[in-house]
Amino acid sequence: MTTPALSWLLGGDLPIHRLGYGAMRLCAQPGNFGPYPDWEGGKRLLRRAVELGINFIDTAHPYGPGWNEELIGEALAPYPTGVIVTTKGGVEKTGPGEVFADGSPASLRRFCEGSLQRLKLDCLPLYQLHRPDPQVPFAKSVGALAALKSEGKIRHAGLSNVTLAQVEEARTIVPIASVQNRYNLQEHGDDAVVDYCAQHNIAYLPWGPLAAKPFAPEAPLAQGSGVLAQVASELGATAGQVALAWLLHRSPNIILIPGTTSIAHLEENVAAAKIQLSDAQFATLSSAQG
Ligand SMILES: NC(=O)c1ccc[n+]([C@@H]2O[C@H](COP(=O)([O-])OP(=O)(O)OC[C@H]3O[C@@H](n4cnc5c(N)ncnc54)[C@H](OP(=O)(O)O)[C@@H]3O)[C@@H](O)[C@H]2O)c1
Repeated sequence: MTTPALSWLLGGDLPIHRLGYGAMRLCAQPGNFGPYPDWEGGKRLLRRAVELGINFIDTAHPYGPGWNEELIGEALAPYPTGVIVTTKGGVEKTGPGEVFADGSPASLRRFCEGSLQRLKLDCLPLYQLHRPDPQVPFAKSVGALAALKSEGKIRHAGLSNVTLAQVEEARTIVPIASVQNRYNLQEHGDDAVVDYCAQHNIAYLPWGPLAAKPFAPEAPLAQGSGVLAQVASELGATAGQVALAWLLHRSPNIILIPGTTSIAHLEENVAAAKIQLSDAQFATLSSAQG
């Protein structure tokens, strides 16, 4: 299932597979801190993702920090035509539980340059402000993305963990290509941002699509119960696949980035793109889980 409407993200006419991959979990645990212990296995998983047709892979500087980008660069560069890796800057991590925003223009420039090097790229296809920094005026952080774009270090600017007002403000400074906020079948708090992005042809990348908490291995929506389990059994699918299919049905500008460390789960998640929910199933799921 591809989305021609968002093909401009790839810089051309190539369609994006709406089922992408979030690489965050390919780090040491706890806290996504340190290199992924099964380094060669991580590379195999990333290559399998591309073989399965995934061409949108999400990472960020603080995953590792740096190690996740390093792994992706080693596994996939030079990137096959039409495959993009999107990354983020604006968060620093100094230990498994020590994470803080750092959105000053100087830091964003430094993070961006590090990401370019680790991902083995001359230009980042999509660079997202990881989260607004309460110590830095939001317009200054977004202005830093605009400067990186005008210098050709990034092709598109995106945002993460932002409000609708912040998306609107950012768009007065630089075109915004994507928004990445937490959103899934159980957590609909960001409905207005999803709809605003759809209206303005901005990609929406829901993080935690299976409702996993950032540093916990459990994915509640992959377990499934009640209506979710019932719809899954009607469709001969798993609960996780139905939760992903619900997001794809929710809005055409949504690109999914579920995370996994398992090739079997990766294959199962990609197959969710083939599941077609009826409008009735979509409505039942929305009201039961919302
Ligand atoms: N912008 C932000 O602030 C932010 C924050 C968090 C995450 N993210 C991005 O969003 C991506 C996805 O988020 P996430 O990884 O936290 O949450 P998620 O995609 O909701 O869930 C990932 C968890 O689900 C499990 N899982 C995946 N597929 C499964 C399946 N088919 N069956 C059973 N379990 C399955 C994984 O375990 P296994 O490894 O065992 O499969 C993993 O523990 C991240 O990779 C990252 O790129 C962004």
